[in-house]
Amino acid sequence: MNSDISRVLERLESQSQLEKARKVDVPPEDRMLAITKETGELLNMILRLKNAKNVLEIGMSTGYSTIWCAEAILEEQGQIITIEQNPSKITRAEKNFEDAKVANNITIKQGTARDILSKLNQEYNEFFDFVLIDADKENVIEYFDSVLPMVSAGGVIITDNMLYPEKYKEHMAKYAKHIKKYQNVRTITSPIGNGEEITIKL
Ligand SMILES: C[S@@+](CC[C@H](N)C(=O)[O-])C[C@H]1O[C@@H](n2cnc3c(N)ncnc32)[C@H](O)[C@@H]1O
Repeated sequence: MNSDISRVLERLESQSQLEKARKVDVPPEDRMLAITKETGELLNMILRLKNAKNVLEIGMSTGYSTIWCAEAILEEQGQIITIEQNPSKITRAEKNFEDAKVANNITIKQGTARDILSKLNQEYNEFFDFVLIDADKENVIEYFDSVLPMVSAGGVIITDNMLYPEKYKEHMAKYAKHIKKYQNVRTITSPIGNGEEITIKL
């Protein structure tokens, strides 16, 4: 991994740990709520195994997970479309992408996931080979249903927070059950990080 990227990832990991331990005073809406480092490594590994080029992320925050994905697709000259509604997080993410020198591989779509996904649906069909779903958990079933037609055969969808925080567990179990209704996917819940649903479109 090049030093520009590792430096930014390490800085964001320190910030995330401070926030999680409540050692810094950050208003709830500005907290990173980032995936764990282990989850970042998992995403990066899957993207590399797939030689992925076209990535969609729902819930960018300050870009920690986006940078893990970008690192894996740089050599393939891949592109990431990422969705975020909070303007101040977008400003922070843009700075992080510049510092990591991955900004050219990332397009940020500002707005609500519902609105942006409905626009992307008109443009893309069986296009993305990798999707990360990590925005609000309330609408996760809707996001999955909206994303699935845009994923290519063999494409992977990862969903964060399947097991933690505890308050989402029951809802995310319903989500896993919902996914299993589709005949054209295989899915498993992995205990890595905060619990990752790993779904493949057949
Ligand atoms: C868990 S955080 C994402 C963390 C990020 N994936 C990472 O690992 O660094 C969820 C993000 O989704 C954004 N978000 C929540 N609901 C959203 C919605 N309906 N539309 C767009 N963004 C949303 C929040 O502002 C927040 O930054």
